[in-house]
Amino acid sequence: MGRLEGKIAIITGAASGMGLAGAQLFAREGASVVMTDVAEEALNATAEQITKEGGEVLALVHDVSTAESWATVVDRAVTHFGRIDVLVNNAGIHIKKGILEAELDDWNRVLAVNTTGVWLGMKSVIPHMQTQGGGSIVNISSIAGIIGGDADSGGAAYSASKGAVRSLTKHAAQWFAKDGIRVNSIHPGAVYTGLARAAGRTWDSMSASFADKVPLAPHVGEPNDIGYGMVYLASDEAKYITGEELVIDGGWITH
Ligand SMILES: NC(=O)c1ccc[n+]([C@@H]2O[C@H](COP(=O)([O-])OP(=O)(O)OC[C@H]3O[C@@H](n4cnc5c(N)ncnc54)[C@H](O)[C@@H]3O)[C@@H](O)[C@H]2O)c1
Repeated sequence: MGRLEGKIAIITGAASGMGLAGAQLFAREGASVVMTDVAEEALNATAEQITKEGGEVLALVHDVSTAESWATVVDRAVTHFGRIDVLVNNAGIHIKKGILEAELDDWNRVLAVNTTGVWLGMKSVIPHMQTQGGGSIVNISSIAGIIGGDADSGGAAYSASKGAVRSLTKHAAQWFAKDGIRVNSIHPGAVYTGLARAAGRTWDSMSASFADKVPLAPHVGEPNDIGYGMVYLASDEAKYITGEELVIDGGWITH
């Protein structure tokens, strides 16, 4: 029996990187997965691949920064599967601009996706979890939400957005524990995903550039390293854990 057998999960930003890794692992562990993303073509291709491997998925185009899009996704998920046991708020963007370089539009866009998107997701799903008598929410923050320095690769709004996700997670954990809803955050360090590829990085260059910061080889994470964290926090193995922050960074912030 899979570790998530019978659970219904929504994973945002599931067309790429950690969200895709999470969707693959969730499906292998017996969950039915609602995969959502703005990138329609990549989303449909990856959903088809998981279906071919025997997974049960529903792929929905979704912009996490709008309330209308969330209403559609949650409505379709509940109509299709009948309930929502797990929400993984994973979709995120990064703009490499510091406080002085960023324009208001840059700032607002990063906050809209990375922070407002997480709040809207919880606002949309929690009433269903309350009616059902429980659920698990996993919010993907970053070590940039805990430490400063170069953990945000020079993105001021990114750090601010991920710090907000960390504290919003603890707020939600406190207020909804009475409903049996657990809310935790994951804080990845450097992970080789679409964000890194879009920035022109290769695995080898990334591994080499983080060798002096990240003590554990290969000095850069792969999407499954985070996906396994999602599986654990979503599963009943974590039934007494809420408001916690799981750092998966090869030891970067122990420095
Ligand atoms: N890669 C890293 O090193 C790293 C480190 C710490 C935290 N994170 C966080 O992990 C999460 C996943 O990132 P990733 O590295 O897998 O990146 P990725 O670019 O591979 O995947 C992110 C996905 O989110 C989607 N997305 C973007 N805007 C969206 C929107 N408005 N609505 C719905 N989907 C949207 C993208 O289309 C993409 O498929 C993000 O929240 C990111 O901030 C990444």
